[in-house]
This record gives sequence, structure tokens and C-alpha cells, in this order.
Amino acid sequence: MPSCCRSTARWSCARPSFFALNFAVLCSLAGLVAVGFCLAAPAVAQSMQPIVLNRVTAAHALPDGLELHSGAAVVRITALRDDLLRVRIGATGTLPEDASWAVLAASRTATVAVKPESTAHTVGFRTGKLHLAVDRATMALTVTDNDGHIIVQTPAEHPIEYHGTSFRFYARSPEEEHYFGLGDKPGPLDRRNEAFTNWNTDSYGWQESTDPIYKSIPYFLTYRNGICGGLFLDNTWRTSFDFDKELRDVYSFGADNGPLDLYILYGPSPKAVVEQWAWLTGTTPLPPMWTLGFQQSRYSYYPESEVRKIASELRSYRIPADAIYLDIDYQFKYRPFTVDPERFPRFTQMIHDLLAEHIRTVLITDLHIARVPNAGYKPYDEGLAGDHFVHNPDGSVFTGPVWPGPAVFPDFTQKSSRDWWGTLYADFVHDGVAGFWNDMNEPSVFGVASKTMPDDVQHRIDEPGFAKRTANHLEIHNVFGMENSRGTFEGVRRLDPDVRPFVLTRASYAGGQRYAATWTGDNSSTWNHLRQTVPQLANLGLSGFALAGADVGGFAGSPQPELLTRWLEIAAFQPIDRDHTSMGTNPQEPWADGTTQDLDLRRHFIETRYRLMPYLYSVAEEMSRTGLPILRPLFLEFPDASHDRHPLDFNNGSEFLLGPDLLIAPSPYPDLLDNYQAVLPPVGWYDFWTGAPVVADDQQRMRVGNDNLPDEDLQITLHPTIDKLPVFVRGGSILPMQPLVQSTMIKPVGPLTLRVYPPNSPVGALRRQESCAGSVYLDDGISYAYQKGDFLRVEFTCKRTPQGLTVHIGPHQGSFQPWWTQYRVEVYGANGPVHAASATNGPVTAAYDSDHHRVVAFLSDDGKGVDLTLTGGLR
Ligand code: GLC
Repeated sequence: MPSCCRSTARWSCARPSFFALNFAVLCSLAGLVAVGFCLAAPAVAQSMQPIVLNRVTAAHALPDGLELHSGAAVVRITALRDDLLRVRIGATGTLPEDASWAVLAASRTATVAVKPESTAHTVGFRTGKLHLAVDRATMALTVTDNDGHIIVQTPAEHPIEYHGTSFRFYARSPEEEHYFGLGDKPGPLDRRNEAFTNWNTDSYGWQESTDPIYKSIPYFLTYRNGICGGLFLDNTWRTSFDFDKELRDVYSFGADNGPLDLYILYGPSPKAVVEQWAWLTGTTPLPPMWTLGFQQSRYSYYPESEVRKIASELRSYRIPADAIYLDIDYQFKYRPFTVDPERFPRFTQMIHDLLAEHIRTVLITDLHIARVPNAGYKPYDEGLAGDHFVHNPDGSVFTGPVWPGPAVFPDFTQKSSRDWWGTLYADFVHDGVAGFWNDMNEPSVFGVASKTMPDDVQHRIDEPGFAKRTANHLEIHNVFGMENSRGTFEGVRRLDPDVRPFVLTRASYAGGQRYAATWTGDNSSTWNHLRQTVPQLANLGLSGFALAGADVGGFAGSPQPELLTRWLEIAAFQPIDRDHTSMGTNPQEPWADGTTQDLDLRRHFIETRYRLMPYLYSVAEEMSRTGLPILRPLFLEFPDASHDRHPLDFNNGSEFLLGPDLLIAPSPYPDLLDNYQAVLPPVGWYDFWTGAPVVADDQQRMRVGNDNLPDEDLQITLHPTIDKLPVFVRGGSILPMQPLVQSTMIKPVGPLTLRVYPPNSPVGALRRQESCAGSVYLDDGISYAYQKGDFLRVEFTCKRTPQGLTVHIGPHQGSFQPWWTQYRVEVYGANGPVHAASATNGPVTAAYDSDHHRVVAFLSDDGKGVDLTLTGGLR
């Protein structure tokens, strides 16, 4: 047992002694003059006491930052960019190893010159965007921006402290500051007043208050009065975070062991912080397009005839779909990388037959390798011969029971073992399997209270950029699942270098988005879990995992028909749309249970997702470049929208955005039939379904924005009915849509639709717009040819004119040939036929469609770009 322990944030062992504290005060009073004296004396106390960094005993400037000493401790603060600082601390005088599983090497080693800036009381520096001041007397540090906004400030009364190997960092948490991120942790969108532990855990049936669950992403965003920052504690050990729960107006975080290696990010906009996080840890790569289609799964579809039946039902019920998942029962005795020949007698043929139906197959491939010597089981035999499995302290191979019974575990922190793991996919890749699912990689181990490996299991770190050494499980646990999914991603890529791999992982660490998409694990078939999907996916997106989903319909239990219908409606607007359920539950496919109306609605919403595919894929492409998530909390797009610049998380975060332009406003209590209010940011909105401009409730416009601006956002009353999900489109956007297809493998037939929503901001709105914009991105959806220029990007704008409106469609960028040769332009906000319509590339007519408040015109697309001019008829 450690001599010091903590409950939530507070140490229960002794605080620094009276002597040490008074000594610190003395030192603070004396300031620099006393540096020599202060250096010498407390060293005596330190050997007996926790190490408390409560004074600066020496400081010297570095070209890119500053090195400080506090007694024996060394603190190095450097600027990687003008808006990104790194703080590294060595409590006993040596900085921790400069290596990271999360941070890209090029970013970690980036530098920018700083301007030293010191006063009698402080030492610090200035970058182009930030200012750091460290109080010499207390070592409290303050990071501010050029306008003086505080990004991080440590309180003098709560200095950084070490108790043996563990440490804690405290910072002020003003009442108006809010916190987001930390990955998949359940609960509200805003992390304030909550405390969390990071320790990847198999959490079947987790609930809103369960912590920890599967992932550890020790990174959060701070948001105060519209100014956003971020803090990342790059430490793979068990870490804990407390936001104002234990100590009033203070947040804190720390670890049991390992480095204090902290990154401080600065926006000021939330989008800028998200993009910095992507710069630091990478983005989700451009996914294959099929992964954005509807996916059908369960634990488990077998035998083969059942899988074939599900595929043909998807088609006969006309449910657009792109993938079927095979869970553990396809395997021979649950042994990963095998196929049960009795259950799946024509496995390879089945994969091909499904492909002929335009359905791809995703296979679960768990990391636990069955310990079956002399059974001709290649993964075990080869892994053992290559010494690829993790060891016990005595050097024997660690064995723990999971699905196949006694199992062994690859040593994923060893590059050579990851590379070997990757080779295990050869047959499946050759068979045409499209995606792989890495489950149970916390790692989950059955039959033990800890649900995982013992703390003293040995992992070999043999990795470019790291010192070669052996680490115990406590250090590797939280990064194990990420390195598992990395081995899969890199292995599959090597096996088929021209095809984008798809890997779905359950456990991960910061930066894991580079290798895999994720899902929220074993949720439940309840209304509350449906509601929980939004804050959870929003926080995952802010944490880097922009391609994520929750089991649609819920995993544990069986949903009532209305719940499944509602879930399929909402999930149609979430990044990954995968229907999945547990063993022994009722059928959960879209045609299961329910009335004809349920089936029609479920189909209709999945169809809507497919019609939106050009938009969804374009948003995914933006994600792959910038890190901006597919599902966005409102404050990400509208940081200035609320009256007091409080982050918009209306209705407990139940409202969300799909990309920049679509706002989905489900009821905060989806099982209740009561009316509810939705609030829309003050930019003007249209109803996605009817095309009608949104009109606020009488007398229910709310003042928003800065105090001196006369802005109003829209409050509308919504009446929940099962056949309607309120979806709104931002005025000033252009939404690309396509004709319906049953799979992304099928080329749509017909024109690309451009829904043009002219700006309709309320008078005096914060961002009154006169123009609108949008774009579409397309490529072959599967290969890397886009990296060599074989993609298509078209940008669109519209502008209100005194007479009406012009729509500009830009020329094709890139060499990819799209499936369309015509645009169908739908201009919304029309209140009558237009007087005239003209296009720059030929004659055009524009028809008025009063049902949808739009005029519709068809334009041919020769790739050179075209302008459409409409006169009259528009609001
Ligand atoms: C775990 C997964 C679940 C899967 C099951 C069987 O519980 O979270 O999705 O179906 O294992 O493999």
C-alpha cells in the first residue's frame, strides 16, 4: 500500500509540514534574494515529506521556454507553437523520458522561439499568443492570452505535489468555467462537478454514473466566457481528474506514477483547440465510405445460413445497409483468427456472396489468443515461438481466461509483436473481409475481481522513440488497447496497401483515433441510454474520436419497438450507425417487432442518412484533415451564441450538430410525450423536412450574445411524436444530397442535389449573413488514390441580390469523375414562383414547389462551374 492515498482529489496523508509551509512563506517573502537559503534548507524536510513545488529556487531561460527549479525538482516549460505549451516535471531532478504513445513525434519536438519576460516577482515568457508567468515565491503559474484571459492558473495554496511516485496538479476553476472531453465517460456533456478515473475497464451494462469505462483519454477542454483551452496529461498510468467536486473552485488531476507531462492548448475558439489536439495527436484517417452506411450486427449471427438470411432480409425489407458484423460465434471454439467450419462451411464464398449483395463483412478479432498447445493453432504456436506474449515477473507467459478459456496476450508495446499480430489478418484480408473489430482489449480477463491482468505482468517496450525496457502492467494497461488496434490497422494496411482499413476498437488511449474508430461498449436498451448517446459521442469527438457510435437499440436487454424506432431515427444522424445487441436478446434488426409504421419510419431515417451521404462523407473528409468531429456539440460551432458566452448545451446536451449545418433536436426526455422547447443559435434555421423557415414561438425569442448586441436566438416548442425527429438546417448553408441507394457500393442514378438555404438570420443577429456556402467531397470511397489527386471537390456559394439570389457552383477540383452529370438546385425560402432564371451554361427553368417552400432548377455539370441567377420569388 502506498503511504499516501487519496479519495477524490485530496491527499489523506500529511500535507507539507508546518515547517515546510512556513519555510515556503518565508521564502516567498524574501523572494529572489533568499534563493540560496531556500534551496538549501527544505531539502532536509523533503526527504521526510512529500515534494511540494511551492517556490522557484532557480530559473533560466531557454530559446523555446524556461527551466525552473524548486529545490531538487526541475520544471521545464516550453512552447511547441505560439498557442501550445508543454510542461514537464522531474520531482527529483531528472525530467521524465521524452517519449509518447499519444503525441506525434514531429509535434512533440516542435519548438517556437519565446521572449523571456520576468519581473521582481515572476519569471516567464511570451509567445505570439500566450504569456506565462510563474510566481517566484509560490511557483503558482498563470497562462494568459494576449488579451489577458486566463487559460490556466495554479493556486498558490495548492501547489503541485508529489507523494512518492504519485503527483497532483491543481488549477483554479472559476464558476463560469466548463469542461469537456475525457473520452467516453458517461454522464452530462459538461464535466464540471464530476470526478473521474482513467483505467480501461470492461464495463458490461455500465450506467450513467459508471466510471471508469473502456477508454482513457486524459485530455479535457476548458471553456470560459467563450474562450477555450485544453489540458492533456500524457500519462498512461491510472490517472484521476476532479472538476470542482472535492475542492470548491479548483480542478485537479494526477497519476499514481509516471510522468507529469502536460500540454496546454489555447484556442481561443473551441474549433482551434480541436484542431490543435489533432495537430498533437493526429486525426481519424479518411474512413472507407461504407463505414458511414448502416451496419447490422448482433452477438452473434450464426450459422452461415443466418448471416445470409439477414443479408437478404436487409435487401427484401429495402433497408439500405453496407455491413454485417460477425461476433465471436463464427470462430472455432472462440479462438481468434479461426472459423468454425461446421457453422460456416462456405465462409469465403459467403463473404463474396454478401459483397455481391453490396454488403461488406466485419469480423471480430479479439486479442486473447487461446492457449492450446499442439492443436495446430497458428496464432498460439507462432506467437509462442516468436516470444510475442506478455510475461509474468518470473518470465513465464501470462495466462488468463477469456472467451476461449485460458488465453495469452500479445505484447503490443513491442513493435515486432505488433507487426506479427498484423500478419494474422492475411487470410481474412485475402478472403475479402472489409473490417475488423478489436474488442475486449482493456484487456478484459475473466474470473478475477480486477477484470484485467495482474499489475505485475511484464510488458516489453521496444519501440522507436522509446528507451527499450520492461514495464509493468500498471504503466501499459491504459495504452494496451490502443496498441492492439494500431497493430491491426498497420497490419491490415500492409496486407492491402491500397485499401483504407477499418478497425473498431473498444479500449484506447489519447491518439488512438489514428488507428481505429470506436463505440461506447455495452450500453443498455433503455431510453436513458438513448439520451446518453449524445453527450458521450460529443465528448468522444472533442477528445479525438470523431468516428464513433453507440450500439443502436442498446446492447443489454431488448428495446421496446418505439425505443428501437426512436434510436434508429437519432442514430441516422450520428457518425457510426450500427445496430448491435447481446446474446439472448430479442431480434433487433429494423424489421423486428413493431408495427408497419415502425418499419417504415426506421427505413425512412436510414434512407435519409443515405440521401445525406455526400454531406456526411464531406464532413468525414473534413474530420480527416482537421480533426473536427462529425457529431458536434453546439458550442463548437456557436461559441459566442449564448447571452453570457456560456457553452450552449441546451436540454442537457440533447441537441447536437451533424457537421456544421444540421441541428438535431431530440427531446431531452425521449420517452415522454410532453412538449419540449428547443433553442436554436441565432443564425436563422430551416426545417430539414419541410423546408420551411423556422419561426420562433411568440414572445419566446431569447436574448443572446454579448450584452451590447441585440441578438436573439430562437426558442421553439416541439411536440414529440414518433414519426418526427426535429432536424434543422443552418440558414446560409448548401447541403449536397443524392438519390437513394441501398448501399454505398451502388452508384446513385440522377443528379446531385444542392439544397440551398439562403441566409435568414433574425434581424440584428450576432452573425448576420448575406451569403451562403457549402462544398462536396468525393472519391472512390475505398482506396488511397485520393492522396494522389484522384478526388473531387466542388465549392458552392449563394448570395442574396436586390432582385433575388445567385448560386455559384465552382469548377471541379481534382481528377475524380463523379457519378452525376447534372445538379438539381433546390433553393429554399421561396414564397412564390421566380420571375426569371438564367444559368451561365445554358437555358434553365425554375419550378416553384410550394409544399417545400422552394424553387427547383436543373443545371448540367460539365466540371467547369456554373452560376444560376434567380429573380423574384424569394423571401
Ligand atoms: C463484448 C462487446 C460486445 C460483443 C461481446 C461478444 O461484450 O462489448 O459488443 O458483442 O463482447 O463478443
